[in-house]
Amino acid sequence: MPDAHPATEHQTCGESHYSKSVDPTTWWEAHFDRAAGEVVDFLAGDGIALEGKRVADIGCGDGIIDLGVTLKAKPATLVGFDVQATDVPALEARAKAAGIDSLPEELYFATSGDTRLPAEDSSFDIAISWSAFEHIADPVAVLREVRRVLTPHGLLFIQVWPFYATAHGTHLVDWFPKGFAQYLHNDDEITRIVRASGNQDMASEMLEIYRTLNKITADQLHAAVREAGFKIVKVALTAESVHIPDEASHVPLSEVAISGIKLLAIPDRRLIDDEARAT
Ligand SMILES: C[S@@+](CC[C@H](N)C(=O)[O-])C[C@H]1O[C@@H](n2cnc3c(N)ncnc32)[C@H](O)[C@@H]1O
Repeated sequence: MPDAHPATEHQTCGESHYSKSVDPTTWWEAHFDRAAGEVVDFLAGDGIALEGKRVADIGCGDGIIDLGVTLKAKPATLVGFDVQATDVPALEARAKAAGIDSLPEELYFATSGDTRLPAEDSSFDIAISWSAFEHIADPVAVLREVRRVLTPHGLLFIQVWPFYATAHGTHLVDWFPKGFAQYLHNDDEITRIVRASGNQDMASEMLEIYRTLNKITADQLHAAVREAGFKIVKVALTAESVHIPDEASHVPLSEVAISGIKLLAIPDRRLIDDEARAT
């Protein structure tokens, strides 16, 4: 039997899973406070301050994290890039509702191409990305673009959660709160269950998200980062205790149980030089 009943918010061992159906306050707090705070703290843990830096956010979505990072960390500029134009008036309205009179003048948004960032070479000191690289169709091409727009001493922070192979990797927690729908149901069943309940606009949006997930694993992300000429210098993995259904018993534990990652990468001169020699 499908476990399709409406869900709002789920806590999974240290990682708050917020679905699209959560109330606006919870959504705001999860992004403006928690996600933005985690970006700033992860970097600050290595003595990296964003203050005065030129920061790019790859796959910025609604821009709430960018607003949080800008107000908390005071970069010289922060540009949120996304293939879908960020709804700035909506962000302004959300900010006002949270008591923020206007968006900071250091904060900009720009619409990017699938593999192209509209920015000059070496125009950013730090790139950040939150919950985007599991949605990006060609991660290596986008990471190469990130390397192009970063200075040679630039830094790259990436967070991904949840990885596809893990309990809520389908991003369909509203319909499958117990998780692992990708192993328990085929695509037609998933579509039918999602269509059968809840707001239909949200169902369409989430099915589109589900169908376009790139299914990247932590190891594949590592390989993509290296292929684009970066090396990872710090990593934090999220791994919780999970009960694995029979249908997922064949999946490597490193894939089924590592639900998320935060990483810090820098351009790898050695890989970049090898690449230059080969061309
Ligand atoms: C789950 S949302 C995350 C948004 C935001 N970072 C957040 O956490 O609220 C993933 C975002 O990645 C964007 N995206 C997908 N492919 C992209 C690409 N090639 N370049 C830039 N953004 C992309 C999507 O449009 C979407 O807004």
